[in-house]
Order: sequence, then C-alpha cells, then structure tokens
Amino acid sequence: MVRPLGTHAEYVVVETDAVAKAPATVDAAHASTLPLNGLTAVQALDLLELTEGQTLLVTGAAGAVGGFAVQLAARRGVSVTALAREADEELVRSLGAAHFTAGAVEAGSFDAVLDAAVLGSTALEWVRDGGAYVGVRPGGEPAPVRGILTASVAVTPDGARLAELSALVDEGALTLRVAGTYPLNEAAKAHARLSEGGVRGRLVLVP
Ligand SMILES: NC(=O)c1ccc[n+]([C@@H]2O[C@H](COP(=O)([O-])OP(=O)(O)OC[C@H]3O[C@@H](n4cnc5c(N)ncnc54)[C@H](OP(=O)(O)O)[C@@H]3O)[C@@H](O)[C@H]2O)c1
Repeated sequence: MVRPLGTHAEYVVVETDAVAKAPATVDAAHASTLPLNGLTAVQALDLLELTEGQTLLVTGAAGAVGGFAVQLAARRGVSVTALAREADEELVRSLGAAHFTAGAVEAGSFDAVLDAAVLGSTALEWVRDGGAYVGVRPGGEPAPVRGILTASVAVTPDGARLAELSALVDEGALTLRVAGTYPLNEAAKAHARLSEGGVRGRLVLVP
C-alpha cells in the first residue's frame, strides 16, 4: 500500500491488487462510497467469525460502515440487531436488520457487537460471556472481559474482496448511499456539513 494515500486529489497511485472494477449499475459517485467502508465492514465481520443463526448487534447501523455491516451480516444468515437513532429505524430495517434498538440493550444479550458508533465499554457489556467485540478505532478496543474476544478493524486494500462487493452491488444486494456531492474546490463545505452530524450516506467530492 502506498502511504500517504491522500484522498482529496484528482489522481492517486495504488497497487494493482488494491483495485477492482466499479459496479456497472451505479454512477461514479455511488461507486466511490464502496471501497473504504465496504471493506471495513467486511473485514470487521471476518474478525467476528460469526456463523449462521448467531446474533450480532451493529452500533451506528445507519452510518456508512454500520450500514454495510448490517447488509453483509444479514446475507451471511446472522441475526442482526441495528442500534441507530429512532428516525433511522425504517432505513436500517430496509438494509436487513431483523431487530432495532435506539439504545436500550440488555447486558450480555448478543454473540457479538460490531461497534461502528464507537460506544466502547458500553457496547462490550452487551456481548455474552465468551462472545466477540470488534471496534473501528485500531488499538482503541476495550480490554477483554468475561472471555470476550476484543479486536479492532484496520481496513486494508483488497482488490479481490472489493470485486466481490462490487458484484453484490450489481446484483442489487448491497445499497450505496450518496447524501450529496461537492466539487473538489468546495471540500471545506463538505467537511462543515459532515461536522454538523446527521449525514446519512456519503458526501462525495467530485474532481
Ligand atoms: N478502522 C478502520 O479501518 C475504519 C475505516 C472506516 C471508518 N472507520 C471509523 O468507523 C466509524 C464509523 O464510520 P462511518 O463512516 O460509518 O461514520 P458515519 O457514517 O458517521 O456513521 C456513524 C453512525 O453512528 C451513529 N451514532 C453515533 N453515536 C450513536 C449513538 N449513541 N446511538 C445511535 N447511533 C449513533 C451516527 O448518527 P449521527 O450522525 O446522528 O450522530 C451515524 O449514523 C468512524 O469512527 C470511522 O472513523 C474506521
């Protein structure tokens, strides 16, 4: 991987095995929302090693990482509970969440938690003894307790996996969400909008 990558740029050089063909059924703005957060979600799910029928709570389920995680986990036959804002219930259910909560969760009630909202030790309490927790801040996961495996995802480029995600988009099995687009020279406006919170879907800079 080439570092620093930089993301506010017209061009970037990456390794050939880091890329995949974009989905054919969506425009470039939508396609751009897939690689970082789609791979983060799938790599986080891999760390959890869940099997069909197990239960997973996804926090921040209406967000980019959380939204992909809900969709991908549901496809694996995992029973997904989405933790999101009240107003996002319909959205997260449409992504495949079997259950919804806006915050009231019984301690120890899930096989695993994927903590995309970075709730930390609070979210860890919701995992059953011997279950699994994965965070999204590398090295920032809470210390393990009650035999729970705790880890964090640090997304890595993976062209083969990205190709699989791209195919899922073309099959209609993975939804891409664009909240708005900005020309590159208005990047500051996009950041200001992002910092207000409540953005659903990605803000995309268009060179
Ligand atoms: N480790 C890695 O490789 C990697 C890669 C990509 C992203 N990340 C990290 O993953 C995290 C999520 O990224 P993202 O792009 O998915 O962000 P996002 O789109 O902003 O999603 C976060 C979601 O969590 C919600 N949320 C926050 N606190 C909540 C709470 N207490 N209850 C319910 N919902 C809550 C937010 O709602 P509101 O907007 O209403 O607050 C938002 O819907 C970020 O911390 C990001 O830095 C890590």
